[in-house]
Amino acid sequence: MERINQVIVNTTVSIIDTFYEGRDFQRFWVLEEIARAPYFAFLSVLHLQESMGLRGEQHTYLMKEHFEQTLNETEHLEYMESRGGNQYWVDRVLAKHLVLLYYWIMVVYYMVSPRYAYHLNMEVELHASETYAEYLTRFPKDEDICRIMNDEVQHYQELYSAMGYFK
Ligand SMILES: [Fe+2]
Ligand SMILES: [Fe+2]
Repeated sequence: MERINQVIVNTTVSIIDTFYEGRDFQRFWVLEEIARAPYFAFLSVLHLQESMGLRGEQHTYLMKEHFEQTLNETEHLEYMESRGGNQYWVDRVLAKHLVLLYYWIMVVYYMVSPRYAYHLNMEVELHASETYAEYLTRFPKDEDICRIMNDEVQHYQELYSAMGYFK
């Protein structure tokens, strides 16, 4: 399953990377828009489970964690907007459709297998941090992107810990 997750992420990422070559901030904006969706999905499912009387031991911890991640990803998104990432309608249309699709896929995936849903998004966060690292090799003085890259590494680690709660 982990191998399938990697193939899905790598394929999607190479399509986006090819399409966005030479347009760093449009690519970052689309990636940030998509990167928020799983955290909304995890929260939705956790809320639903809780309402159905299925509160697990780590429920409150995970809800807090995923809520903070959504806020952090929203800050990233707003930053990319401040640098023109969403100025073209074509990027907005693509991102809005992808996010709708990805949100519902993640809702189902997380309901069926929280462990592998976390794993898939670890791969997404890993890719995000690598994308920013590559940008920083070209623009090493961009401190804001450096900070955002570190946030993505932290998300990766948080998802890795969350994964440990589900066998
Ligand atoms: Fe982000
Ligand atoms: Fe992230």
